Amino acid sequence: MGSGSKQVALVVPAAGSGTRMGEEIPKPYLTIAGKTILEHTLLQFRQVDAIHELIVSTSEFFKDQTCEIVASVFGDIELTVIEGGAERQESVFKALQYVSDSAELIAIHDAVRPFVSKQLILECINEASNPGVDGSILATPAKDTIKEVEDAKYVVETPKRERMWQAQTPQIFKREVLLRAYNNATMRKLMGTDDSSLVEMIGGKVSVIKSTTDNFKITYPLDFQLAKLILSGK
Ligand code: C5P
Repeated sequence: MGSGSKQVALVVPAAGSGTRMGEEIPKPYLTIAGKTILEHTLLQFRQVDAIHELIVSTSEFFKDQTCEIVASVFGDIELTVIEGGAERQESVFKALQYVSDSAELIAIHDAVRPFVSKQLILECINEASNPGVDGSILATPAKDTIKEVEDAKYVVETPKRERMWQAQTPQIFKREVLLRAYNNATMRKLMGTDDSSLVEMIGGKVSVIKSTTDNFKITYPLDFQLAKLILSGK
């Protein structure tokens, strides 16, 4: 099934603080090569025709700037900017309340992953459209051996590395399943570190699209330096 046949709502959580970067300005609003990271990220999705609406969660202070950014990138689709919550999960949950009924799929993408390619977004949309799955996520095979560690000290277990993948975004799901997953997690006060984990909690089937490490999340100062190097060379 072609991605053009599905209506996709894009949800972008951009409400985090800049604490891990040691910055005053939150990461999505740091500027590289004359544009905010949020803008760089949105420009990648602008190339995808299936996206018919966009909801961005941000903080009260950055609402006006965010409205300007989304309008400059996506002039011609339905745009909503809202205030997020204390956790990413809450920021996404709040945004989901604004997704229209006409959306068949909901794509969630971190504001701080500006290097996702159009091709991978399309592959993920196509895969999530499949009747056999509830959603699809981008992920990379783990490079390092992953340890399960207790009390941040003792190794409990070493899962087989070939079964370990690192989840990225976008994570794209059928609308009804994702709403059910988020409602379930909120009602039962369950927290997950990504969107897929909430879908897994209700027994959803999620498939993986093999991604690349250049779709990294700008988290630490070194990530920001790398992003600057990549974007200044473009
Ligand atoms: O902090 P973390 O790296 O998990 O953030 C991933 C994305 O979630 C970022 O784009 C950040 O702006 C967003 N976020 C949010 N609301 C929060 C925390 C993070 O929208 N309370």
